[in-house]
Amino acid sequence: MSDSFLLNPLFKTLEEDLRQVETCLEGILQNKGGAVRPAGEALFRGGGKRIRPALVLWSSQILGARPQAALPIAAAVEMVHGASLLHDDVIDQTTLRRGQDTLNALHGNRYTVLLGDFLLTQALEAVCAVGQVRLVRVVSNAVAEMTLGQILELQHQGDMQTRTEDYLRIIDGKTASLMAAGCMLGGVLAGADEAQVQALGMYGRHVGLAFQIIDDVLDYWGDPATLGKPVGSDLSERKFTLPFLLALEGADSIQRGRLAHLLEGPVLGGEAFAEILALMEAKDSRTRSQEMARDQARKALEALDRLPAGRAREDLARLPGVLTRRDR
Ligand code: IPE
Ligand code: IPE
Ligand code: MG
Ligand code: MG
Ligand code: MG
Repeated sequence: MSDSFLLNPLFKTLEEDLRQVETCLEGILQNKGGAVRPAGEALFRGGGKRIRPALVLWSSQILGARPQAALPIAAAVEMVHGASLLHDDVIDQTTLRRGQDTLNALHGNRYTVLLGDFLLTQALEAVCAVGQVRLVRVVSNAVAEMTLGQILELQHQGDMQTRTEDYLRIIDGKTASLMAAGCMLGGVLAGADEAQVQALGMYGRHVGLAFQIIDDVLDYWGDPATLGKPVGSDLSERKFTLPFLLALEGADSIQRGRLAHLLEGPVLGGEAFAEILALMEAKDSRTRSQEMARDQARKALEALDRLPAGRAREDLARLPGVLTRRDR
């Protein structure tokens, strides 16, 4: 499938394992994909950073050698992620991802939603095959949390009363839950004790929060060519993410009125966007959001302190800093 993620120097220790995860993904689509096989393959061949399988693999090495079952579980977590991207692009009406036309742009929403559902079933099937109920429960809970996070985001769409606490609850559900689950799955497979599994989950959760905050910063200040997805889409969808909310919370009543006025109507013009961005910059939204991401990264590292020292812990410890400095 794709192998561009292998260029990431962070993944040096995982190169062979990640290749095998791709083989697992390929095998599942080959054997079970039927009519959706080409679209499924296009999704995984189209790129992606493979952060979630890496979290599973590193976490599964926390007590020593990697258990064999970590490979299909890492593939399952990437399938859940792929499904969530398909559904997310329908919800957000996005036409570009990983530098390519999205499936909804090419084949419509109905097909895309169904392919997402199919991938979720295949992920659960792969987890069931390992034969531990705990693993199935961790994945099912994460999918439920992700869905609730996306629903909460929809409920807050366009709501100028949204607070940063609401935002944190949204991203905890839609993004952090799967990263937390990936780490817990690795821990369970490794035979870690309950405290260690919880520490891995806490690590993954803070990594996920940091990751989504940076995604939201990049939606304002990223380079679309580097990101492979458009910028400015959150505001045009009236998804009020951290950088906007920080500006909103620091705005006086005149500025709030102006923001509300600029956001009236279905289409956000380039001038209105530029004016909002200027206000956000005046309120230091970018730097303050990045600081909040770094704070989450620090909390992730604190959770790692509760785990045994070793190579896997060192690999996990490098990730939060890299993710908070990323530009893609
Ligand atoms: C995108 O995740 C969805 C978010 C949680 C922001 P990634 O940025 O990890 O997506 P890929 O897999 O690398 O394309
Ligand atoms: C992440 O939020 C959604 C998922 C967890 C799938 P976004 O809607 O910001 O993700 P991108 O920016 O489209 O990748
Ligand atoms: Mg989106
Ligand atoms: Mg979204
Ligand atoms: Mg985004």
